[in-house]
Amino acid sequence: MTDIIHRPRRLRVNQLVRDMVAETTLKIDGMIQPYFVCEGKAIKNEIPSMPGIYRESPDSLLKSIADDFELGIKRVMLFGVPDKKDAAASSALGENAVVNVAVKALKDKFGENLFVVADVCLCAYTDSGHCGIVANGKVDNDKTLPVLRQMAVDLAKSGCDCIAPSDMMDGRVGEIRNGLDDEGFTDTIIMAYSAKYASAYYGPFRDAVDSAPHEGDRRGYQMDYRNRREALKEIALDIDEAADIIMIKPALAYLDVISQARAMFELPIAAYNVSGEYSMVKLMAREGYADEQQLVLENMTAITRAGADIILTYHLRDILKQGWLGG
Ligand code: PBG
Ligand code: ZN
Repeated sequence: MTDIIHRPRRLRVNQLVRDMVAETTLKIDGMIQPYFVCEGKAIKNEIPSMPGIYRESPDSLLKSIADDFELGIKRVMLFGVPDKKDAAASSALGENAVVNVAVKALKDKFGENLFVVADVCLCAYTDSGHCGIVANGKVDNDKTLPVLRQMAVDLAKSGCDCIAPSDMMDGRVGEIRNGLDDEGFTDTIIMAYSAKYASAYYGPFRDAVDSAPHEGDRRGYQMDYRNRREALKEIALDIDEAADIIMIKPALAYLDVISQARAMFELPIAAYNVSGEYSMVKLMAREGYADEQQLVLENMTAITRAGADIILTYHLRDILKQGWLGG
């Protein structure tokens, strides 16, 4: 005889029971694969700090995405890696800007079958490496807004489906929405990096696009990781400025923020599983410290369980290629 009547282990007895009571399911349709596009032709170079992720020229990108499309990747995010950087971030603008060239080629080939998101920020294009225009030694919020607005409009003209501003300037979502609407792009979606923290986990990314600030850091515009209430304020402002999707970034060290945002807001929530989070998994797997599939599925599930509807993740190609979700 035992006096234990509550035995939670009953519902863990075998796979059929565990699957039946599972609370969280991963969905590929919520996942977006990021890509880095550089100028030139026939270039495809692996990024040393991000195994399996490349910088590639638009022609090569088109082929890679065509292969990935066959695997089941239907949603992509593009980052530009320009040859020239200057104070005005001029290579971010115009139809010849490298991301615009890539977006146009992708939309010509795939049309509505591929959802194309583009990051909007100046850090890859400014000679300072800052996300905004530097004037009088400071990252000038209001001088940056018209440049971001133009960048967004040019992307929309190239056929981009979704604009994702990651600069963290105040008022940029509203400015971009107005810019898009004035040009007739009322259907272009804005996925705002609303709560973007100043994070050491962006290290490998800055390596990839060569965008580390030459002087100072990003703490004057990206959020302080000691703060959660402030994230809710940032999100509320972006919703007020008509963001369609809000994003929290990074993901894994900020699950509390995702969870609280889920409880407080009705919009779709995206979480960015950033470069450093990806590289950590890759390094552990490479050293044999843990199994890559198990790490990836645990991380993706945790982000989903916290409340994210959408996950931007460099792991998506591996998930599909290796059939990690089964089926
Ligand atoms: C540009 C931008 C960054 C990331 C996305 N957009 C880098 C940064 O803010 O320094 C990070 C993405 C990643 O680490 O995977 N502002
Ligand atoms: Zn930036």
